[in-house]
Amino acid sequence: MPGKSATIRLHVNGEEHTLAVPVQRTLLEALRYDLGLTGSKQGCDKGDCGACTVLADGEAILSCITLAADAQDRKITTIEGLASPAGLDPVQRAFADCGALQCGFCQPGMMLSARALLNTCAHPSLAQIKDALSGNLCRCTGYTKIYEAVQVAAGMRGPASRQPVASERAPASDSVAHAVKEIVP
Ligand code: FES
Ligand code: FES
Repeated sequence: MPGKSATIRLHVNGEEHTLAVPVQRTLLEALRYDLGLTGSKQGCDKGDCGACTVLADGEAILSCITLAADAQDRKITTIEGLASPAGLDPVQRAFADCGALQCGFCQPGMMLSARALLNTCAHPSLAQIKDALSGNLCRCTGYTKIYEAVQVAAGMRGPASRQPVASERAPASDSVAHAVKEIVP
């Protein structure tokens, strides 16, 4: 027997949508399966990984544990709506410049959590950045470049990891040969 359905209105990335959905439809399901916005990832689907993070009135929320019906009065922004006609959001630009991604699965949620932080705190400390992203799990990067990217997006530093790494001069070949001779008689 089909479950109860409801007609809801969602405001997503500047557009209004009217949807007939089951009453238990989550916001993540509505975004991905009703609106085709697959940038928000379905990871754990139970509030543990942050892959489904979207913005609601500029605040980071987990769309997998938010009912679509409860998001009706809020302006939702997904990763598809983060850039503007002027170009990429500074967070997106900084993540690219810092090489702060590998497989990319965590990135939409990670970038939206970073954007939510910068919306309320223009120059966060490293501790604040770590705290703001603590609900977003990344299995690939080790987080260092992600934290760096948030600092770059905030204008607090340049993308250091893309700068050439200074290396020591290699010893002259004859001194290497001498060293080898010393070790291997
Ligand atoms: S998919 Fe929502 S927190 Fe993991
Ligand atoms: S880049 Fe692969 S999970 Fe973060």
